[in-house]
Amino acid sequence: MTENNIHMAGPLLAWYDQNRRILPWREDPTPYHVWLSEIMLQQTRVEAVRSYYERFLTVLPDIRALAEAPEDQYLKLWEGLGYYSRVRNLHKAAQVIVTEHEGKMPAEYNALCKLPGIGPYTAAAIASIAFGKPVPAIDGNLLRVFARLSFYEENILAPAAAKAAWAFFEERIHRERPGEFNQALMDLGALICLPNRAPLCDQCPLQDACSAHALGRETEVPFRPAKKKRQIEKMTVLLIHYRDHILLHKRSASGLLAGLYEFPNTSGWLTREEALREVEALGLESVRIRKLPAARHIFSHKEWHMHGYQVFAGDWQAAEEEAGLAVRDLFLASTEEIETVWSIPSAFRAYTDIALGQD
Ligand code: ADE
Repeated sequence: MTENNIHMAGPLLAWYDQNRRILPWREDPTPYHVWLSEIMLQQTRVEAVRSYYERFLTVLPDIRALAEAPEDQYLKLWEGLGYYSRVRNLHKAAQVIVTEHEGKMPAEYNALCKLPGIGPYTAAAIASIAFGKPVPAIDGNLLRVFARLSFYEENILAPAAAKAAWAFFEERIHRERPGEFNQALMDLGALICLPNRAPLCDQCPLQDACSAHALGRETEVPFRPAKKKRQIEKMTVLLIHYRDHILLHKRSASGLLAGLYEFPNTSGWLTREEALREVEALGLESVRIRKLPAARHIFSHKEWHMHGYQVFAGDWQAAEEEAGLAVRDLFLASTEEIETVWSIPSAFRAYTDIALGQD
C-alpha cells in the first residue's frame, strides 16, 4: 500500500462501517440490484428512490423479467421518477444482456460501458459494488470530496475535473473493498462534506488529509460556473371528462417525456372561450367548463407554467367518436386505468390529482 492508501482508505472505511446509510440496495448487492438502484439514483434523491426500488423489484425481479416487460408496464413503474429515457435504456440493456450475455450482467467496466444507458459512473459503480473491481465511481459527491481534499479550483463540471478526480481516487481506492470505498465517499459527500453549505469538518474522517480544510477555504470549492436560465413555456392543460372517463393523449415517440400519457394541452395560456373552442373542435358538445389553479413544473432545462380548465362534456357528435380521437392519439381512459395502467409524468401531478378527485 502507498502512503495515500493508508491515509485515506483506512479511516474512510472505519467511518463507513460506523456511519453508513442503511439502504435496501446495499442488503443484497447483486449486479441487477446495483444497476437498478444506480439508474434510479442518477437524478433522484435516495429517500424518493426507496419505494420505487422495492416495487420495481417485486414486479420485475430479475434481468429476464425486465427484458420481457411491456413498455407500458415499465413506464408505469417509473411514473413520477422523471427522466424516462433511464427506464427505456434499462429495458433495452436488459434485452442486450439476455441476447448477448446469456442473461448475466458483464463484470468488466468496458463491457458495462457498452450497454445502453450505462455511462462511466454507472459502469464503475456496478463494477466496484457488484463485482469488486477497483474502479472509482465519480459522481457529484466524489467530485466535491475530491475538490475539497485537493483544493481543486477549476470548473468542477468540466471533463478535466472528472479525469482528475478519477486519477486521484484510483490511486487511493481500497483494493479489497472498492465498492464500499466508493459508497463511503458517496455517504461522506451526503452526510459530512455537504454541498452548498459549510461541511461538517469536525466529524470528517479525512479532515487531516484535506487541503481545503487546512487552508480554511472549504466553502470556496468546488467551483461551478453560473447556470444558464431555463426556458419558460406557457401552456394550457385540459381535463376533459366524458361519462366517467377522461381524455388522454399519448405523447410522441421522441423528445421530452416520449411515449408517456398526458391530458390534452396546447401551448400558450388560453382564455375560457379559446379553451371551449379547442374542446368543441374535438366534436364535444354542451360542455361545462371551470378554470383550475395554475401549476408549474421545473425540468432541468425548461419550466412549464401551466393554466388549466376542467371540462364536463355532454355529448359527442357521432362523426367524431373514438375513431376520430385515435387519429389524434387521443383516447378515453377510466380513472382506474389512470391509476394503474397509463403513466402520466409528475409534471401533470396537480391536474392528475384533480382528475382523480384527490386534490
Ligand atoms: N447515490 C448513488 N449511488 C449510491 C449508493 N450506492 N449509495 C448511496 N448513494 C448513492
